[in-house]
Amino acid sequence: MEFEALKKSGITNLLSAFGRSIWLPQGIFYWTGRAKKEATIDATIGSAQGPENEIIAGAPDKAVTFYIPSVQRHFAGLKSEETVPYAPMLGLPDLRKAWREWILRKVGDLRPRVEPCLTLPAVTPGVTGGIFMAAKMFVDKDEVVVSPDRLWENYSNIVERHIGARIETFPFFDGGRFNLKGMQRKLLDTLAQQPKALLMLNFPNNPVGFNPPQEMVQPIVQALIDVVEQAGKPIVVLCDDAYEGYVYDPAALQRSMFGDLCDAHRRILPIKLDGISKEFLFYGGRLGCLTFGLPSGLDVDRKALQEELDNKLGGIVRSTVSNCTRPVQSAILKALGQLDQVLAERQRTVDVLGRRANLLKAEFAKVSLPQLRPLPFNAGFFCFCDVEGVPANKLAEHLIEKYKIGVVPSEGGKINGIRIAFCSVPEKDIPTLVNGIVSAIKDLAAES
Ligand SMILES: Cc1ncc(COP(=O)(O)O)c(C=O)c1O
Repeated sequence: MEFEALKKSGITNLLSAFGRSIWLPQGIFYWTGRAKKEATIDATIGSAQGPENEIIAGAPDKAVTFYIPSVQRHFAGLKSEETVPYAPMLGLPDLRKAWREWILRKVGDLRPRVEPCLTLPAVTPGVTGGIFMAAKMFVDKDEVVVSPDRLWENYSNIVERHIGARIETFPFFDGGRFNLKGMQRKLLDTLAQQPKALLMLNFPNNPVGFNPPQEMVQPIVQALIDVVEQAGKPIVVLCDDAYEGYVYDPAALQRSMFGDLCDAHRRILPIKLDGISKEFLFYGGRLGCLTFGLPSGLDVDRKALQEELDNKLGGIVRSTVSNCTRPVQSAILKALGQLDQVLAERQRTVDVLGRRANLLKAEFAKVSLPQLRPLPFNAGFFCFCDVEGVPANKLAEHLIEKYKIGVVPSEGGKINGIRIAFCSVPEKDIPTLVNGIVSAIKDLAAES
């Protein structure tokens, strides 16, 4: 966007340097808008959707955004005291405790190791708010933040525009496996230039839909231990766990890597960012949590440490959103009290998405087209295909015009590909989706 109207109006001259630098990338919103109007198969939308009867027996066949009845139901009965007063800055104390228990349940057999490390979660405005707070608290202007080269586009605005830092990436895969060596090299190069580094780890990943196999977890943790030992400097690992729980391959890690990073080394500080948007299928609720995994060997009063961290986070919350919405916190607290029921209901959506992912994989396996290379996927809401010889934007344009299929293209640097949001494509449309992509690439390749 060129912001011509702002310039013409003279308002540009009033903007701060930040006001001039900030902009909302139109990529996803542009293609979602186009798909809404033009597509019969819409693989642009990043929320789980489909016929309601796929998740609720006896419900109509009409498409809905998937939801968990045992979460929604609590809104009807909220009393004024549960909705009207301001919530405490870091969230309702009982919710903070209940979310801590939820994290401990998610880490499973790592509980004995994680529990002593875990702070009381601070409530944030969605996972986005948690990423923002963590970045604000741990990243300095002109510092480098390290991430795999497939990343949620919003990281750039948070880290680069808000903080004035820079994201540097390493190739996500090396021969079909998570690129351990690339991660290590990039972290060591970064630590050679600055006193600490921040690593973003997003598993299951957006846009790749990948969670590492179980046997890769220890090597990844060991690689990070080797980095901090070799550099003699600390790293903060931001675990963006927005899609935790959506894993469709029993051989893949079923939980966040946060637990494995807890107490891995006294110079590794993992921070867990999770929330209800995907985990409880409640995107509009805007509730996330930020939780530290403090190494156990620190020679410090842990209660004082928690209080001081809370104070810092409180300062950020108070000076930005002031506090998070109370009705949602009240309802989620009640839902966490019936977690077994909530998870049983959520499982229907996990199963639907798992069937879609597996079918998509099977359809791709039938295709032999050198220009189309689906990256490994086994989790989350998306998959990503590298495309060769055809610019991704041109492919997306042709796909929507001729085949009425909406995808989100990604072009830039060494990346040229399309993101497919299988979370919003019903199973019956998946073969048509893959055939359309293949035909569109063939059409364009024949033209050139
Ligand atoms: C990787 C990733 N992290 C964080 C978020 C934001 O989650 P929330 O809606 O809770 O702010 C998203 C949402 O699309 C995402 O894809």
